Order: sequence, then C-alpha cells, then structure tokens
Amino acid sequence: MSKILVTGGLGYIGSHTVVELQNSGFEVVIVDNLSNSSIAVLDGIVAITGIKPHFVKMDLREKDSVNNFFEKHQDIKGIIYFAASKAVGESVENPLLYYENNINTLVYVLQNCVKHDISNFIFSSSCTVYGEPDSLPISEEAPVKKATSPYGNTKQISEEILQDTCSVSNLKSVALRYFNPIGAHDSALIGELPLGIPQNLVPFITQTAIGLREQLQVFGDDYPTPDGSCIRDYIHVVDLAKAHVVALQRLLSHKNTSGFEVFNIGTGKGSSVLEVVNTFEKVTGNKLNYKIANRRSGDVIAVYADTLKANNELGWKAQKTLEEALLSAWNWEKKIRHQ
Ligand code: NAD
Ligand code: WQD
Repeated sequence: MSKILVTGGLGYIGSHTVVELQNSGFEVVIVDNLSNSSIAVLDGIVAITGIKPHFVKMDLREKDSVNNFFEKHQDIKGIIYFAASKAVGESVENPLLYYENNINTLVYVLQNCVKHDISNFIFSSSCTVYGEPDSLPISEEAPVKKATSPYGNTKQISEEILQDTCSVSNLKSVALRYFNPIGAHDSALIGELPLGIPQNLVPFITQTAIGLREQLQVFGDDYPTPDGSCIRDYIHVVDLAKAHVVALQRLLSHKNTSGFEVFNIGTGKGSSVLEVVNTFEKVTGNKLNYKIANRRSGDVIAVYADTLKANNELGWKAQKTLEEALLSAWNWEKKIRHQ
C-alpha cells in the first residue's frame, strides 16, 4: 500500500480526494494547518471510508517543521498538493500573503522531494491560468495569459516552478487545471465549508435557499452569451477527486510522457449562471430569490474545458451531471444547517 501525502487534505477538494485515495487502497497522511478547514472533516472521512487517515497539524510556511516532517516520513511515495489560499479578492488586497502561502510552501515541500527522492507530485492548478479564452472549448495548448490577480499568478508561477524542478531532478509532476468545482459527497458527510460570505456561485445559491443570505446577485446579464450571463464549466467535486487518483496512478506506473504534464479537469460543457440557477430550482424544488446585478469586475465571459487530453491520455472523464452536483450541494447545505 503506497503512502501518499495530501497537503490541505482537510479542505474541500482535499477531503474528497482523501476518500477516493483510501477507497483505491492508498495509505494517506494529511498535513493541514486548519486555516480554512475543520478537524471534524476527519470524522466525515472515517464515516465514509471506515479508515482514519494519519493527520499532522502543520503550517507549511514553517520550513523547519516541513523538513522535520520529511525526515520522519521517509516512506512517502507521492504527494497531492492542495494547500493554498484561494480567495481571488483577498489576494489582490494582500498579495504577499498569497505569495508566501502558495509559493514558499511549495518550494519547501519540493526541496524535500528532491532531497528524499519523492518523485510523484500532483498539483492543484486552475483554469484561471488561461484568462479570457481566444477560442472555446479551451485546450491545454492555449496560451497562459498574464494573470489578473496575485492568486492566479501563484498558480502560473507554481506550474513554472514544477516544470523547472522536473527538468533537473527525478521529480515527475502532473498539474490538474480545475474548472469550477462544485457539489459534495453523496453521503453529505463532507462538502464545502466557506468561511464568511461565499464568493463562489454555488455556495451562495445554497446559502440563499436555506435562508442564510437574503438574495443572490447574478453578476451581469448583458454579456455576449445566449442568455447574457457568464458561462463556466462546473465539475462535480467527486469526479474531480477521482482525477487525482488516476493522475497519481499514471505517475506511479510510469505512464507519463514527460516530466511535467498538465490536464484540464472539467466536464467540457459550459453552463450559464442563469442555467445554474434554473437547474438548482428544478432539482431542489426551491424558488431562489435572485436579482440581476452589475457585472463583477475581473470575470471572464465564458470558459469551458476541452477535455480530450484528460479523456484520452489520463483515461478520465467526468461522470456526474450538473443536476447531481447541485442536488449534492443542497443536501450538504441542509445537513450542516440541521434541516
Ligand atoms: P480549501 O481552502 O478548502 O483547502 C485548502 C486546505 O489547505 C485547507 O484545509 C487549509 O486549511 C489548508 N492550508 C492552507 N494553507 C496551508 C498551510 N500553509 N499549511 C497547511 N495547510 C494549509 O480549498 P480547496 O477549494 O479545496 O482548494 C484546494 C486547491 O485547489 C487549492 O490549491 C486551490 O487554489 C485549488 N483550486 C481550487 C478551486 C476551487 O474553486 N475550489 C479551483 C481551482 C483550483
Ligand atoms: C461563477 C460565475 C460569477 C457569485 C473562481 C476563481 C477561479 C477558481 C474558481 C480557484 C461567475 C457568477 C458568482 C455570485 C454570480 N478558483 N456569480 N453571483 O469566478 O468562475 O472562478 O473560482 O482557482 O480562479 O476566480 O467562480 O463561483 O465565483 O463564479 O453571479 O454571487 O457565477 O460572476 O460568472 P469563478 P465563481
């Protein structure tokens, strides 16, 4: 049983990935500083899988702690790297926090990969690296455009750091460029736990439907799209979690074709904000209080993935529908609000 380190493994995508890793027979060590997650997530993972992963509470910004961790855990075969700060607006206000938490931490961990010859590394990247696409669907060949936020820049820089490290060491890395992850585990035992007012569409919808927020604002209905609202590729978090297991198995079985690879992880289907709202109303039977508001600055008009590379080379394809994703997000919201 290979031992896999999952940094940020108590977070939203990390916790779902830990479940899939354990279901696939991997032994998991989670490192998390709980800055954006709760220790109770461990209970959810145990309830779903029947297995308690190892957990080490540690801040990856503490270089000495990181080095000590790797001295103690010499049998790690691979790393899935989720730990990062992810709020775009906060990154504009406090860029150094983002460069420290998303870049320094990655460098400390990679130094240990090289030192201890840990060669299999999966990284959480984002479709944000593409900016406003020139054509759709967007493939991995599309240019990376100048980032519009320090957060986005940390993803671009991280990919470059990985590529450079892979070219001079035994490190092999896959960067998964996620589109818009939504939804929760079918059991409603784990899901997304946004702190404060949600910035993302789906948690804002579920919090409005449950009565925590008065009204959803749809940011713009005058975009050049069929219904005027922005288009995104909403990917069920369980499908996304499974992509990590497949990518890891690819590296462990030496199926990668170069030291550094990138894959789009999306459904390949674009949905507008209004389609998401309507689908949520249809599958949950809720009437959502929403109004059309001004555009949100920095939003791209439309982006959805060309998934051919992930389908053909990784052997991964999203299985779940938008309906299933929204229903699971709603079941999770009801569960955490005891309704
Ligand atoms: P999340 O905030 O739920 O999870 C991140 C986890 O990392 C949290 O549990 C947090 O406590 C931990 N963490 C943060 N800084 C740490 C540090 N210095 N030391 C140890 N632990 C630390 O976020 P998520 O949505 O699960 O995202 C996971 C990754 O995927 C991130 O890298 C994010 O940038 C990336 N990503 C997310 C999305 C999205 O929309 N959720 C989209 C694309 C990419
Ligand atoms: C989706 C759509 C909004 C909230 C962000 C990051 C990106 C990635 C995923 C990490 C947009 C609209 C939203 C609301 C709305 N994260 N919306 N009312 O902006 O596509 O991507 O999360 O890498 O980097 O930028 O996701 O969920 O915020 O917005 O109308 O209250 O919903 O305008 O069109 P986004 P989102």
